[in-house]
Amino acid sequence: MLEIKDQLKKVEEAFSRQSPLYDAYEEDHVILQWMRSQVRAHALEVVKPGDHILELNAGTGIDAVFFARMGCRVHATDISDGMLAQLRGKVNSYNLHDRLTIQKCSLTELEAVEPGGYDYIFSNFGGLNCVQDLTLVTKQMPRLLKSRGFLTLVMMPPFCPWELALVFRGHFKTAVRRLRRRGVLSHIERVHFMSYYFSPRQTLKALGAGFRKVKLQGLASLSPPPYMENFPKRYPRLFRVLTAFDQRLSGIPPFNRWADHFILTVQYQPST
Ligand SMILES: C[S@@+](CC[C@H](N)C(=O)[O-])C[C@H]1O[C@@H](n2cnc3c(N)ncnc32)[C@H](O)[C@@H]1O
Repeated sequence: MLEIKDQLKKVEEAFSRQSPLYDAYEEDHVILQWMRSQVRAHALEVVKPGDHILELNAGTGIDAVFFARMGCRVHATDISDGMLAQLRGKVNSYNLHDRLTIQKCSLTELEAVEPGGYDYIFSNFGGLNCVQDLTLVTKQMPRLLKSRGFLTLVMMPPFCPWELALVFRGHFKTAVRRLRRRGVLSHIERVHFMSYYFSPRQTLKALGAGFRKVKLQGLASLSPPPYMENFPKRYPRLFRVLTAFDQRLSGIPPFNRWADHFILTVQYQPST
């Protein structure tokens, strides 16, 4: 297991190496585009223009720019210098300086973020899966969120049907890798770091009693996970059918928790 400092260094390096290619990769990736559209539709049930948003693990800021351009004020954080450099470029080219601020900050060191009375906190596409102890992140939420503010976390759970199905093709180790409690060694651009998988239940437990579940949705439960990027090109009709089923069933157990990712929105309701 990598120590926290070493893990952060590796994660920073991996995503910085990936950052110049990140947006272009998604532009040509039907599954990722569909997944992001689902996350946006989910988020827009609680986000409105004028909201003050804190984005965690914002990456190149695809969502930060989206929210800023719809009239929100966004404070975007990430640990990767490369990712943040891409985002800075977008702030300049879209002239979003009055609405989008950037801070280099780890998910595990959010005490460095000024308490902004945020209406909404958002973490998309598995940044939280790079953290072993979720409570390091969740303990900061009451300090940062407004009372009755919302938080949406998009994370990878331990049960992914497409991955478990690999058992039938003899890939036992890959099929059950997410179930390893002590994490899994992942790699991006030849840099290795640990990934950890959490169920919605574990995530709600880490958040604690002050948070009420608003909505839980599975993402890519029946449809294939993003690393099967050629699937929509080879089987376009089947992909459309599977995503249509996913859209219908994503709110119902087990499809809301057995998926490539889940989207969980909670509301902060302090008792006093
Ligand atoms: C898959 S990318 C997702 C980026 C963005 N949210 C999106 O939707 O495109 C994961 C991001 O999490 C960030 N990340 C991973 N661990 C982090 C940590 N401990 N603190 C802050 N950011 C982290 C990475 O730098 C990377 O930008």
